[in-house]
Amino acid sequence: MSNIYQIAIDGPSGSGKSTLAKGVAKALNIMYLDTGAMYRTCGLAAIKKGIPCKDVDKVTELMNTMDLQIKFIDGKQHMILDGEDCTEMIRTPEVSVAASDISSLTVVRTKMVDMQREISKAQTFVLDGRDIGSNVLPNAKYKFFLTASAEKRAERRLAELNSRGDFSQNYEEVLRDIEYRDKQDSSRANAPLVKVDDAVLISTDDIGIDETLNTLLSYIDKEDI
Ligand code: DC
Repeated sequence: MSNIYQIAIDGPSGSGKSTLAKGVAKALNIMYLDTGAMYRTCGLAAIKKGIPCKDVDKVTELMNTMDLQIKFIDGKQHMILDGEDCTEMIRTPEVSVAASDISSLTVVRTKMVDMQREISKAQTFVLDGRDIGSNVLPNAKYKFFLTASAEKRAERRLAELNSRGDFSQNYEEVLRDIEYRDKQDSSRANAPLVKVDDAVLISTDDIGIDETLNTLLSYIDKEDI
């Protein structure tokens, strides 16, 4: 019998979720779904059409008309919007803020959560996001919640942007965006960022990625490795 299970990794922007989730996927030879990329693609779709991300009527129409597809090519997730691969385009500071704004709308969340559940039910997946353990997959076998100070997360986000050749923001601007998104992602009415009781809390302030990965893997049953 195949042993299908899910791993949920939640936490705020820049807490190291995606790096860690990629490491987990590699170590366990399982699939990785980056759910933030899905909300980012919705934000990009709104920007492209000139739609304000909090305009419920226009965003509802957008959700009904846009063609959002996820393709896994050699294990890497590609976001396809209206036939165009936008995997790299969704990583800008402008799209980050749009993603946080648009993800507060229920019409957007319902559509994305349905897709996430559908994708992750057929195979073993690690998913990262804000509401995976609390809302998308409350029965996930393993749940983790990552934290780090806003300053540390801003440092990491700036380094990540710079490594991609994006120098459009300085440290203060990155920190301001992180604080804006923290507040909005944690205070929205629908599935806010929250640590559920059965999630393991890991603070990544003072530990590097290798140590965090080892800590996380130490919670995984031998039979799943
Ligand atoms: O993880 P990220 O920074 O790529 O996510 C972009 C935005 O998407 C984030 O500010 C909040 C939203 N998001 C969400 O609401 N729920 C998720 N499961 C993942 C992301």
